[in-house]
Amino acid sequence: MLVGDKSYQTVWMEGTSVFMIDQNMLPFNFQIHECKTYWDTCMAITDMSVRGAGAIGAAAGYAMAQAFLMMKKKTKAITIREARQDIEYTRPTAKNLFYAVDRVYKAGLISPENAMIEAQKVAQKDTQDSKKIGEFGSELINKKTNILTHCNAGWLAFVDYGTALAPIYLAKRQGKEVFVYVDETRPRNQGAKLTAWELHNDEIDHVIIPDNVSASLMAEGKIDMVIVGADRIAANGDVANKIGTLEKAVLAKEFKVPFYVAAPLSTIDAACKTGKDIPIEYRSQDEVLYQTGIDANGNIIKIRVSSPGSEALNPAFDVTPAKYIKGIITEKGIITAHHRSIQKVLNES
Ligand code: MRU
Repeated sequence: MLVGDKSYQTVWMEGTSVFMIDQNMLPFNFQIHECKTYWDTCMAITDMSVRGAGAIGAAAGYAMAQAFLMMKKKTKAITIREARQDIEYTRPTAKNLFYAVDRVYKAGLISPENAMIEAQKVAQKDTQDSKKIGEFGSELINKKTNILTHCNAGWLAFVDYGTALAPIYLAKRQGKEVFVYVDETRPRNQGAKLTAWELHNDEIDHVIIPDNVSASLMAEGKIDMVIVGADRIAANGDVANKIGTLEKAVLAKEFKVPFYVAAPLSTIDAACKTGKDIPIEYRSQDEVLYQTGIDANGNIIKIRVSSPGSEALNPAFDVTPAKYIKGIITEKGIITAHHRSIQKVLNES
């Protein structure tokens, strides 16, 4: 994607370093963060310098390749299995992380160079899949459409293009009039900070809304469709995505607004029979109790926004049952959120 007049990917590897757009600095500063070791890359995934299902998948694949390369140089006393565990421990919910690590681990057992090649393939595939999702998804968007999205499943959340936002980018290029309602997505505000930044950058009409506004917008008939991403999809079509997705899906059903999930097949976890099997990450309560922003001097600051002495609960994801989902937009086409359709597309791929 273009930032200014330069084309960027969210995450990439050059030599033995992993580079990424530092998402903790956005939308205020555009900075590239370098991870020299697999451990640096793990830290960047954990602290969410890189985030979003596909982007952390690619970063984790690169981290695995870095670990193989480090072992080759014997610069650190780790076993490759320990390194794999470290990487897998960074974030538990997004399936793409485990998918990428597994692919690169198996490739690296042949040689570290092979691990590198595989990690690059994982990242390239993420880009190709996102592009196809954009193509299939744009067919669902009419000439004039108001879309609600939650969190950030744009190009920042993948290596490029994105999933939920990819159809929107393409629809705009096809001359359609799209307007996006962007849930701010408490507590980390990926919508207000990242989705809004992406849409502004691409000159797509949008407005940021507090997370509790969408019900009234739907009741007023102002939302034509909902498109969200996914962090893990169970074999029966239940979808884990950013906390708050479930309530959007329930609302959408009530107000007869089609609710779509956009995700590559690499997000499907056939080993999870239903959403109940998906591990949900709980993050630090500080994310709820404090907010980060920018002061008048341009410094990024963290302030407390809740009553001192109270504690907070911070599940990062929830699970939307398949019955609320009109369709899953994948790189192979739009499928129903049902175990038969999911099994069929997995068998064919
Ligand atoms: O905690 P995050 O920001 O890494 O959450 C993952 C997500 O980006 C969202 O849940 C998104 O909607 C899924 S698709 C990238």
